Amino acid sequence: MEMDYENRIVAPEYTPEDGDSELSLRPKTLKEYIGQQKAKENLKVFIEAARQRGESLDHVLLYGPPGLGKTTLAGVISNEMGVNIRVTSGPAIEKPGDLAALLTNLSPGDILFIDEIHRLQRSVEEVLYPAMEDYALDIIIGKGPSARSIRLDLPKFTLIGATTRAGQLSAPLRDRFGVILRLELYSCEELCSIIMRSSGILGIACKEEGAFELARRARGTPRVANRLLKRVRDFAQVEGDGIITAKIADNALDRLEIDLLGLDAVDRRMLETIIRSYAGGPVGLETLAAAIGEEAITIEDVYEPYLMQLGFLSRTPRGRCITPAGCAHLKLEMPGQPGSEQITF
Ligand code: ADE
Repeated sequence: MEMDYENRIVAPEYTPEDGDSELSLRPKTLKEYIGQQKAKENLKVFIEAARQRGESLDHVLLYGPPGLGKTTLAGVISNEMGVNIRVTSGPAIEKPGDLAALLTNLSPGDILFIDEIHRLQRSVEEVLYPAMEDYALDIIIGKGPSARSIRLDLPKFTLIGATTRAGQLSAPLRDRFGVILRLELYSCEELCSIIMRSSGILGIACKEEGAFELARRARGTPRVANRLLKRVRDFAQVEGDGIITAKIADNALDRLEIDLLGLDAVDRRMLETIIRSYAGGPVGLETLAAAIGEEAITIEDVYEPYLMQLGFLSRTPRGRCITPAGCAHLKLEMPGQPGSEQITF
């Protein structure tokens, strides 16, 4: 059976259904931005220092699982620095000329935000190196023996790159970022605050206990939290008195087949496959991907971070393994591992 992965309510990627309200929910200042304490504290210092010196901010690389607010944070940085931001993504920049056009249109201090920066073409990346390092663009004019290179000066801009994994970036590109910040999955308390803030902005009546039920199923991801809030609001409106209480939230999420920890049918099927078809693992990533009809990279970036944070899955050099906690959550027995003791509960 093919699952409808694209329409997972717990998918961390932005979907058209998130609509414009995703924009209105985005915090504009560091003060409004909830969570990511470490990244925020460091950024505050770098922004303050650059402002005091009247310089542009050093290039910033943001990395971490999808849906944690990398684009939002880039917007916050531009707002705090009082500069313009141009938003694009690795796959959208097809040719070196596309990047040259973007760079030459910037004003001093402006931010160029490149999402999914690990997906830049190599030829485009090469234009980026001198741009980042020397604020210069090397353009080759002519062909053959008469070809020559001219250097074009660029304004002192700030590049903010975002990627799901810093390890996927080429070393020369990674080394050109002065600031590298890792974004972490959010705690339940942080997500609770985000949900209360969003319900205020959207005019949704939501009790703390209701927000908590949503928060603990939001997989550490604000985008998922805000999406659950909107779906559960529909249940509160049609089947309750419009107020999101713990009971309404619990009931609605059950009906959406999202369990107490936020796992949906796809997560459960992946864990069950490891248990039933591969004796609990280890199973190689590619094999697992084929077994559940999903791309390996999606498994790594989207499903695994949360399952590993919960301690339900472990990555070993020989492949993925289910943990006793993962089995317990699914109410399945831990399979016996060949050559090791049978683990029983
Ligand atoms: N909405 C989405 N992400 C948020 C965050 N980190 N803080 C506040 N509101 C948010």
